[in-house]
Amino acid sequence: MEGVRKGEDAKIYIDGKEYLLPTVIGTEDELGIDIRRLRSESGAITLDPGYANTGSCISSITYINGEEGILRYRGYPIEQLAEKAEFLEVCYLLIYGKLPDQREYNYFVDKVTRHSLLHEDMKNFFAGFPNTAHPMCVLAAMVASLAAYYPDEKNDLELMDLNIVRLLAKVPTIAAFAYKKSIGQPFVYPRNDLSYTQNFLHMMFAVPAEEYKVPPLFNKALNILLILHADHEQNCSTSTVRMVGSSMANLFASIAAGICALWGPLHGGANQRVIEMLQMIYEDKGDVAKYVAMAKDKRNNFRLMGFGHRVYKNYDPRARILKSLADELLPELGYDDPLLEIAKHLEEVALKDEYFLERKLYPNVDFYSGIIYRAIGIPTNMFTVMFALGRLPGWIAHWRELRLDPSMRIHRPRQIYSGPSKRDYIPFTERG
Ligand SMILES: CC(C)(COP(=O)(O)OP(=O)(O)OC[C@H]1O[C@@H](n2cnc3c(N)ncnc32)[C@H](O)[C@@H]1OP(=O)(O)O)[C@@H](O)C(=O)NCCC(=O)NCCS
Repeated sequence: MEGVRKGEDAKIYIDGKEYLLPTVIGTEDELGIDIRRLRSESGAITLDPGYANTGSCISSITYINGEEGILRYRGYPIEQLAEKAEFLEVCYLLIYGKLPDQREYNYFVDKVTRHSLLHEDMKNFFAGFPNTAHPMCVLAAMVASLAAYYPDEKNDLELMDLNIVRLLAKVPTIAAFAYKKSIGQPFVYPRNDLSYTQNFLHMMFAVPAEEYKVPPLFNKALNILLILHADHEQNCSTSTVRMVGSSMANLFASIAAGICALWGPLHGGANQRVIEMLQMIYEDKGDVAKYVAMAKDKRNNFRLMGFGHRVYKNYDPRARILKSLADELLPELGYDDPLLEIAKHLEEVALKDEYFLERKLYPNVDFYSGIIYRAIGIPTNMFTVMFALGRLPGWIAHWRELRLDPSMRIHRPRQIYSGPSKRDYIPFTERG
């Protein structure tokens, strides 16, 4: 297996019999027990609901150390990429494994720029949704619909790259059109003289009646936000993309499934919930202590949204970057958001509280992202769509890595059955 070393065999005993299982060691010394032969040799499977201890693949895309709060894409620290890179550069890095040289970058940007138009017929689809439709629902449906227009990649590498470009290019257009539809404004078509992020902001906020110039600070903030969301290894939506892709479903279908997985409030939907929670606290006279107490109360199912993470047991490095971005950006924009103060106060109270310390619950990426999105004019119900826009290259990179892996097998976990043993069918007349 490429990129990993062999470790010392692990021994397990089942019913007194010993089994030797190989181990693998990753680039950063992460240790895994390879259980692929376990069932065929012993009849036993492993049980890990929620997959907290299960490695589903070997991947060279992203490294996270949750204990130390480290996140790197293809080896590059997230802090450096957020400060220095362009989002499309990061897309290339994640998907193709290296930073592009100038020629490769120009070619890639040019291709993505030139594929941003939607097939005109697709505009009719937007008309079919009610104005109240959540934009995530529209996004998922539209991305799946792209498969109706573009051929399945199968194993054609050139077509795979073309569909990757199409997807990166068209998702911002779909997202902006979904927003325009929801507020009853005409669609604003993509413009090839603008950068990826400028073009998206232009499609969102321009109207035919007057000229719109993308504020450079909005553009800078969006670039950082998208980079921070670009990948996060085997999270719920990315694992979904890999799961669906493993059935040889096409790129568009696999990514649409990832969008649906991201929608949930425990995953990408959390950024919208954070703002709703902060607003609720603000309207409740800023009584932060009351909400911290509610989050700790086991009889109450309220949770502090934007707090806690399956992998980070330390401050999420992305949240750290976003907190200082919010501090820098809001005064520069002259935007005095009372929710930022509530958020900081909430963080301060929670991080001194034994409950949160014991469970290692820290702010995650969603805690401050919504405040910045608000400051650049993105409405709350579009927050999860923004997350999807950022996560797109990560999903694509994982889908591509999976599909180019010659050892790929369809993903098919096992289970431990706990239902009734065999019993005979009873006709209605005899049922008690
Ligand atoms: C992210 C999240 C789903 C991770 O879940 P998980 O790894 O399965 O962790 P658990 O749900 O088992 O939580 C562990 C403990 O911390 C508590 N906990 C976790 N997140 C909490 C939160 N945001 N507020 C209050 N308590 C929380 C749980 O109640 C549990 O307590 P217990 O051990 O006394 O039962 C979870 O922290 C959460 O729901 N956070 C809020 C939603 C959110 O911000 N999601 C975005 C993630 S990027």
